[in-house]
Amino acid sequence: MKLLVTGGAGYVGSTCSARLVEAGHEVVVLDDLSTGHADAVPAGARFVEGDIDDVAGEVLAEGFDGVVHCAAKSLVGESMENPAKYWHGNVVTSLNLLDAMVRHSTPRLVFSSTAATYGEPESSPIAETATTRPTNTYGATKLAIDHAITSYATAHGIAAVSLRYFNVAGAHGELGERHAVETHIIPIVLQVALGQREQVQIYGDDWPTEDGTCVRDYIHVVDLADAHLLALEHAVPNEHRIYNLGNGTGFSVKQVIDTCREVTGHPIPAVVAPRRAGDPAVLVASSERARADLGWKPERADLTTIVQDAWTFTRARAGA
Ligand code: UFG
Repeated sequence: MKLLVTGGAGYVGSTCSARLVEAGHEVVVLDDLSTGHADAVPAGARFVEGDIDDVAGEVLAEGFDGVVHCAAKSLVGESMENPAKYWHGNVVTSLNLLDAMVRHSTPRLVFSSTAATYGEPESSPIAETATTRPTNTYGATKLAIDHAITSYATAHGIAAVSLRYFNVAGAHGELGERHAVETHIIPIVLQVALGQREQVQIYGDDWPTEDGTCVRDYIHVVDLADAHLLALEHAVPNEHRIYNLGNGTGFSVKQVIDTCREVTGHPIPAVVAPRRAGDPAVLVASSERARADLGWKPERADLTTIVQDAWTFTRARAGA
């Protein structure tokens, strides 16, 4: 297939692009480099630097079999302080992309959605039938885009799939997390192991969980990328299908730090800090639907493997 990957210079987008190229697809990456890195565009993919709003129509006019839409603003805290950046950058831009797809008859769409569309879960693990009540602007914008995709798929025959990611981690060789502002737990802990930070703060140890710290479902970025390939293959015209992607196993913040200690051999000092606003205690996915419909199953579900791959990437980038 000839595929356009928006945000293909970012963490998830670059890994998706690499896996698509490895699977023999023709890949064009569209990225404005606002948070991505030109050197993360994998060899074998063509790179178009630009804004979706300005150039998506022009690019799609070439004729594509599908779009993998990974470009997004994705910082929860920032989304609360600067909602315009998220409503315009995520929702308006995605509408412009959908309009361009309709104009140029692009038949398939796979969209990077998020567990943040559900908000505080009523039960665990979270299935796709769970209530969507986002607790932050980031999640609200992603949910709005999911609604728009449903309408466009129905009205214009697009075969659409939204993938709701839980906590993405790990790396694919030289492709990994390189955020200017790092807020995610595994890269932060690995920065401590590298000596770039003194300690990690544990945001609360009085949560209603076994060891008192928050539990999350960590999914390897390569398993996530492979779900995109399967979604492209299984997408059905006129339908918008939604799949949660996680391992189905939760790990606490303390377990994550312990695993990082084992993998890196570093003591990784940790201090307990106040809870972070908006954090739910437990977020674990039910990925039964993705397993049943897409035949997807995480091949790198072990937290040690996930941390090892992130650590290899982090050390290589730091020249350590
Ligand atoms: N945490 C710490 N210390 C840190 C950073 C994080 O204790 O320095 C904790 C958080 O409180 C949370 C856990 O580690 O309990 C995981 O936090 P991350 O920031 O790594 O990930 P989140 O669970 O907050 O975010 C993920 C995705 C978001 C998505 C969200 C859905 O990265 O994109 O799930 O709620 F919006």
